[in-house]
Amino acid sequence: MASLDRADPVIMGHILAQHRELHDLLVAARAALAVPPAPDRANVLGARRALCGLSDYLRRHFSQEECGGYLEESISRMPRLSPAVKVVLSEHPVLLGELDRLIATVAAADISPLAWQQAGRDFECFADHLTAHERNENAVVQEGYNEDLGLD
Ligand SMILES: [Fe+2]
Ligand SMILES: [Fe+2]
Repeated sequence: MASLDRADPVIMGHILAQHRELHDLLVAARAALAVPPAPDRANVLGARRALCGLSDYLRRHFSQEECGGYLEESISRMPRLSPAVKVVLSEHPVLLGELDRLIATVAAADISPLAWQQAGRDFECFADHLTAHERNENAVVQEGYNEDLGLD
């Protein structure tokens, strides 16, 4: 794999492929949470596994973005993007925290039907936040590199 210490179109392609993978993991986690109002143990374990898988992937993805250099490269090519990049990066710990709280809820052995249903709604909020984050990130990179990356 290419070194992640400099901006590179290959690395950008890698990150963008991860955005598509993240979308698939979101779909899988949504399906795991979309079971009858009172889940059984297998439902809870399935949801926890899906959310933990998403969390692990997201942590690696964010750290690659933070070390990859292409966001900085976007700024050096177009300095006015600096505030947008700062916002994007500041959202990483917030998103991870949101997902951690959701996992803690679902990991409770005696989760009530009420808490389970709330977890489903919280997940939809988290999914909206993550989707908006990735959309903004794609827009910054696309603008910084002034290329059509086919992200629409
Ligand atoms: Fe990001
Ligand atoms: Fe991203």
